[in-house]
Amino acid sequence: MSQAIDPEPPEYLPRSRIDRVERLLAELTLADKIGQMTQATMPEQVEAAERERLLSLVREGKIGSFLNVADRELRNELQSAAMEGRGIPLLFGRDVIHGFRTIFPIPLAQAASFDPGLARAAAGVAAHEASEIGIDWTFAPMVDVTREPRWGRVAEGYGEDPLVASRFGAAVVRGFQGAGPGAPGSVAACAKHYVAYGAAEAGKEYNTTWVPERLLRDLYLPPFRACVDAGVMTVMCGFNDLNGVPMSAHRWALRDVLKGELGFSGFVVSDWTSLREMICHGNCADERDVAFASARAGVDMEMVSTAYAQHLAELVAFGKVSLAEVDDAVRRILTVKHQLGLFESPYTKVRAVSVALAKGHLDLAREVARASLVLLKNDSHCLPLRADHRHVALVGPLADDPHNPLGTWSFDGDRRASVTLLAALRERLGSGARVEHYPGVPDARSTDVSGFDAALAGVKQADVAIVVLGEDANISGECRSRAYLDLPGAQSALLERLASAGTPLVLVVMAGRPLTLDRELAHAQAVLYAWHPGTMGGPAIADVLFGDVPPSGKLPISFPRTVGQVPIYYNYKNTGRPPKGTERGVPRGTPLDPVDMVASYLDVEVTPQFPFGFGLSYTTFAYSDVRVSAKRVRLSERFEVSAKVTNVGERAGIEVVQLYLRDRVGSVTRPVRELKGFERISLEPGESRVVTFPLGADDLAFSGPDLSVGAEPGWFDVYVGGDSRAEASDAFELVPD
Ligand code: GLC
Repeated sequence: MSQAIDPEPPEYLPRSRIDRVERLLAELTLADKIGQMTQATMPEQVEAAERERLLSLVREGKIGSFLNVADRELRNELQSAAMEGRGIPLLFGRDVIHGFRTIFPIPLAQAASFDPGLARAAAGVAAHEASEIGIDWTFAPMVDVTREPRWGRVAEGYGEDPLVASRFGAAVVRGFQGAGPGAPGSVAACAKHYVAYGAAEAGKEYNTTWVPERLLRDLYLPPFRACVDAGVMTVMCGFNDLNGVPMSAHRWALRDVLKGELGFSGFVVSDWTSLREMICHGNCADERDVAFASARAGVDMEMVSTAYAQHLAELVAFGKVSLAEVDDAVRRILTVKHQLGLFESPYTKVRAVSVALAKGHLDLAREVARASLVLLKNDSHCLPLRADHRHVALVGPLADDPHNPLGTWSFDGDRRASVTLLAALRERLGSGARVEHYPGVPDARSTDVSGFDAALAGVKQADVAIVVLGEDANISGECRSRAYLDLPGAQSALLERLASAGTPLVLVVMAGRPLTLDRELAHAQAVLYAWHPGTMGGPAIADVLFGDVPPSGKLPISFPRTVGQVPIYYNYKNTGRPPKGTERGVPRGTPLDPVDMVASYLDVEVTPQFPFGFGLSYTTFAYSDVRVSAKRVRLSERFEVSAKVTNVGERAGIEVVQLYLRDRVGSVTRPVRELKGFERISLEPGESRVVTFPLGADDLAFSGPDLSVGAEPGWFDVYVGGDSRAEASDAFELVPD
């Protein structure tokens, strides 16, 4: 059903006029303009005929951008065709999500560091390496908040919390875009997938999203606002149908909210063939309808499909789409090209010395991986391992694999640079120690158990067993939704078999999502969650296992006990009947026996296996003196929450201090906790530090019954601690001015 055609297109936000763009815009024909709104993809192995076809389209000005050109010479050849043709440089995009040649941990792992500064540095390295071969624009950061571990793309975002996703999204935008648009070694960033793509029903990829506007505004929109405020140059709209309207035709979300309320002045690119897919959605009858709906909605550039190329001129000629709307799209695109300096320097020069895989890049990848590792269990101080271990049994195919630990979206990563855990352990323990590797299973999804015996025999002889289990990279990422969250294949059975040896056993999990580990936890003395840790994951894991650095990661997403609990998240609503503790079903033989009639299950505890923000250290931190700077805080006042953190253990440690608030009463129900601040600190044994979080009414604001945004007077509980169950607390009253 096409949307009503307004005679007058809406007034667009006043934009910074770049004279050159305006002059150029005035010279362009409609065909030229539509060419700028068209992005083509370059096939990996492009046939000569296809190459010639694309080159001639470029010369005629019918293509304004490419994605997936990963070769400097081809890029410059296409660019010269554009400059000799209509004289407007092409824009080259690529999915540089968490690294280019040097692959950093997946974004979900980076979020576990709770250190946006590290993510910013990693993005800067990725931009530096990618720009070297002529990539001007990356389709990242993905800032889709999600509560869905079944969804494969949970790997690609920053977890369940809007503050974490906002801080990491903004940091990564700044990392990619460097000192400013067009700065040497920088690329344009792209906040995606606008909006609420992570709310896919049942975690099924590309699925419907039903999101009440209040939830949209308070949970899914904030990271996009943060990216816009950080100056993100592009935004990608998602595949999802949001409340009945596919995002590629969502005029309210794109024009009114993103470009209007949020003041986004860059351009919107569609996701792959999401425009054409609206026919399948049943929102458009044909590609002409698609072009109409998307142009009116504010999609500025069409990726891969060709509805604009085929139908936009006719729609303008018949007055269905205004020239003003086309000009606004082209103005945005030309402005980005201009800001990137492509008019002055359209070609990519060969650098005297390649920066790819520079030592500093690999060192940073190791540092980011170290900070992302989350210690979930450590019975009787099994970790850190003693340096004098002379015989280590290392089990699992992922332990000697240069590919899968790189995770999803790592196709440009150089596998030759990967350092596996096996290589790292052998390097670290030296020739005097034995580090024997036993795959146990052929690969992470295999059900072949023929390798169990050899692995068990090896574990029996060793001082310690390090068992690496999890997901291969190809069951993580786009279109990789899973209905079960168990360890795939025979891995769980392998672990159970190995536990029978009685050798101290450390489980290292490599995965692109939370897995359900209820059974496995019993078989390991220690569990380290490594996600997909990237090129330098091996050395980073070894560094933490042997205590060179303490584990410091915290969970950016709740871990369910069973997939039946999903969605499960920390900032839930209390309901009228909150569970009291660990309700566990009803006694047998008493069919009418009253149960605790509370919000719980009969067959599993309501709490997660591991809560948001959780992660152990090799030491212990004590929290005290949680203080609010005033017991009564006026709406217009700034105030602070401080807490004293002490390392009461014997080893140095790194803690992510977390501040949560609870708004006790609101005009709409409020979450039982909301993360309002976090900070990583290092403390020596016995050392204390007071951590202070500055706050204001904007940190307490939410969308009320009429969706107006603001903080409401009343009492707030304050919690500061090492995870979302933090108990150390205080309270304050917010009062009108
Ligand atoms: C994919 C993804 C998107 C990516 C784009 C280009 O389908 O959804 O995140 O940037 O296509 O590869």
